[in-house]
Amino acid sequence: MNTQLLHDDPQGIETAAAILRAGGLVAFGTETVYGLGADAGNDRAVSAIYTAKGRPGINPLISHFASADAAFTQVVATPLAHALAERFWPGPLTLVLPRAPACTISPIATAGLATAAVRVPAGRTIHALLAACGFPVVAPSANPSGGVSPSDAGHVLAGLDGRIDAVLDCGPCTVGVESTILDLGGARPVLLRPGGITLEMLEDACGMPITAMAGSDDARPSAPGQLSSHYAPGLPVRLDAQTVAADEALLAFGPELAGSGLVWNLSPRGDLHEAAARLFAGLRFLDMEGHRRGLVRIAVQHVPGHGLGRAIRDRLIRAASPRS
Ligand code: TXA
Ligand code: MG
Repeated sequence: MNTQLLHDDPQGIETAAAILRAGGLVAFGTETVYGLGADAGNDRAVSAIYTAKGRPGINPLISHFASADAAFTQVVATPLAHALAERFWPGPLTLVLPRAPACTISPIATAGLATAAVRVPAGRTIHALLAACGFPVVAPSANPSGGVSPSDAGHVLAGLDGRIDAVLDCGPCTVGVESTILDLGGARPVLLRPGGITLEMLEDACGMPITAMAGSDDARPSAPGQLSSHYAPGLPVRLDAQTVAADEALLAFGPELAGSGLVWNLSPRGDLHEAAARLFAGLRFLDMEGHRRGLVRIAVQHVPGHGLGRAIRDRLIRAASPRS
């Protein structure tokens, strides 16, 4: 298959929408990472996503919408869901809610669960594309399963060229880590994945403490996709490094440790927003260039675990966890 590169203009958006309508696969930029999109109601198109990514079928997908009204036709929304949507959509928050009786999302996309994950992403281009489609679009991150998520169109092509119909080039992603996933299906909200909307922001909006899922949740049936080994570059990753060796690449945060000849600083001034936006590009760069230079590992300096740092640390811990 020849993967088309589409530009961020009315013709590129219309071509992308036409491919999705016809059951094809199109990657596009959102504010978080690039997603690999398909018509959520088309079983064959949804299955093709799992094949293109090599993704286990037990790992459900997020459905994307142009508006909260559209999202809430597919799931049973609680008053809290409406309030959070009002506050954070469009934006990097995904809500897990019970499927509505009229839900048209393919059961393949929700992995047979009684719930569905929904979000309204931010960004002019993705909004125009979703509006042109008029149906929910499922989109996992546009990378081969288990690899590092893509934050620009080049990253998508590096992993999926020839396996998908097109990439709509929306420029680099502004947030850089995936959406926060909040499960609203139970008596109390549960944070399934830290992301672009911080736990502090959610607790403030909900007016109550929110339980966060602990680090590795491989055995948890409600979200089988939150596998611990994920975001994995080829080189092993060592966290919270206080020194760095000459045969290691360094992913720095704030003032850099001395000792490595290959450094990517997430944010020299220690800004967590800047660090999130530069995280996946940095892991990719150090992996590729480190491999070329014969380095053995990526050492990572400490990143604080508050605010957006919680999502950054989550991705780094998964990148460092043993490969299965
Ligand atoms: O920022 C994002 O969320 C990006 C962009 C493209 O929107 N998408 C993304 O998708 O990160 P993906 O497939 O890489 O991660 C989706 C996560 C998976 O861990 C999956 O297990 C969880 O969402 N998920 C989906 N449906 C769920 C459900 N019904 N219950 C619990 N978790 C669910
Ligand atoms: Mg992913």
